[in-house]
Amino acid sequence: MSGKAEGIQRDSSTRAAETAAKTGKVKTRAKKLKIVGFLCNWCSYAGADLAGVSRMQYPEEIRIIRVPCSGRINPLLVLKCFQEGADGVLISGCHPGDCHYQEGNLYARRRMLVLRSLLSYFGIDERRFHMSWVSASEGKKWADTVHRLVEDVRAAEAEAKAGVPVW
Ligand code: FES
Repeated sequence: MSGKAEGIQRDSSTRAAETAAKTGKVKTRAKKLKIVGFLCNWCSYAGADLAGVSRMQYPEEIRIIRVPCSGRINPLLVLKCFQEGADGVLISGCHPGDCHYQEGNLYARRRMLVLRSLLSYFGIDERRFHMSWVSASEGKKWADTVHRLVEDVRAAEAEAKAGVPVW
């Protein structure tokens, strides 16, 4: 690009920014969130699949990792996700009593409750971590769960930006 063309382009973008500042119509794009979802293969993954097949709308910000059972998820893995920059983490498995490995989700529930109670000590807002039970026939519940999580993470992000302490 020639120097003159570059100058013209810079002038027009500067003018646009000044106009936006004067009118107060500054466009701010919401940050794209990075949310990790650990879903058990037998229920929640199938529920998320059903939501997709049924063309239900839910935020695209969740990245799904399929695991054999929610009981396989080590709480340190959740912390590792946050450490590596995840904005939120979701654990989802079969309803209590429906686990394909009998008690996996019961162990997961106990572990994750303890983890949740410790999150603020690590400086992580509790709203960034959700746990849910979604069966293979609950596509709607899956979509609602992701919507709720994204809302909570956005609220936590806004408070973090404003400097509100986590505890
Ligand atoms: Fe789904 Fe255990 S198989 S939670």
